[in-house]
Amino acid sequence: MKRLLDSIVENNKKWTREGNVASYIPELSKVDREHIGICVSTLDGEEYCSGNSELKFTIQSISKIITLMLAIIDNGKKYVFSRVGMEPTEAAFNSIINLEAKNPQKPINPMINAGAIATVSMIAGNDGKETFNRILKFTRKISGNPEININEAVYKSEKETGNRNRALAYFMKSTGVLKGDVEEILDVYFKQCSMEVTCGDLARIGSMLANDGVLPWNGQRVVPRDVARIVKTIMVTCGMYDASGEFAVHIGVPAKSGVGGGILACVTRRMGIGVVGPSLDEKGNSIAGMKVLEELSKEMDLSIF
Ligand code: DON
Repeated sequence: MKRLLDSIVENNKKWTREGNVASYIPELSKVDREHIGICVSTLDGEEYCSGNSELKFTIQSISKIITLMLAIIDNGKKYVFSRVGMEPTEAAFNSIINLEAKNPQKPINPMINAGAIATVSMIAGNDGKETFNRILKFTRKISGNPEININEAVYKSEKETGNRNRALAYFMKSTGVLKGDVEEILDVYFKQCSMEVTCGDLARIGSMLANDGVLPWNGQRVVPRDVARIVKTIMVTCGMYDASGEFAVHIGVPAKSGVGGGILACVTRRMGIGVVGPSLDEKGNSIAGMKVLEELSKEMDLSIF
């Protein structure tokens, strides 16, 4: 396995020069685009890594699957999906158009920014601080990494410049989708996006999902089976945004991307996978990361379809 990952990383290094690192969050534009890394975490607890697998990067939108799990655990699926939809969209992750044009009462899915902000507003906590602490604690538990923390510089940078998200949130406040203090909800969202992870952390979270909600390394159930199933399904249909269809054709596994360059993927009853490559395509997905996953999927026959 290690040899296979080494050769896949080598074959796909060239893709790190395509595309651009995210620059709409100023701090993210400082990231080195040449990095490329992968970790695979199997259900028997083995971990195989290659390339820049030790690199720390911000989790960004991959955190949306974590907050979706917590929101459903706290409120039940019926309530969560009465307030956020579950349909894919051809619009970009930060798009405003569907909110007004399709259904002002219900963002289209929990993976686009509007839906993720609505989802985070449903997570229990007396205030934003407590809500975020629950998210951080849960992330540490499902990744088996008690050291995960936020990258303060990225958090501050996004908080200062996150006016598109502010616009989405205030629009949702005006239509009654968001209840509570808008700035406090946004602060939790900016913090969850700024959590710093490695490919290994993503691979272990993926292996928990692949194991239907049970941590493979200690047998502890951390997510109900039904919640793991729902999240994996939403990852297939919405996880790579308006490239989800193409990703399903070429790679064929549940996955979630983030503008930090990470992608978390999982193959039920087989493995979790974390990849990183900070240079992104115009849809906000890691170019090298997708190429690495495509080769791995072909080599190991991972597609679920
Ligand atoms: O809300 C934002 O714009 C970022 N914190 C996260 C966006 C993101 O990762 C989109 N994914 N590819």
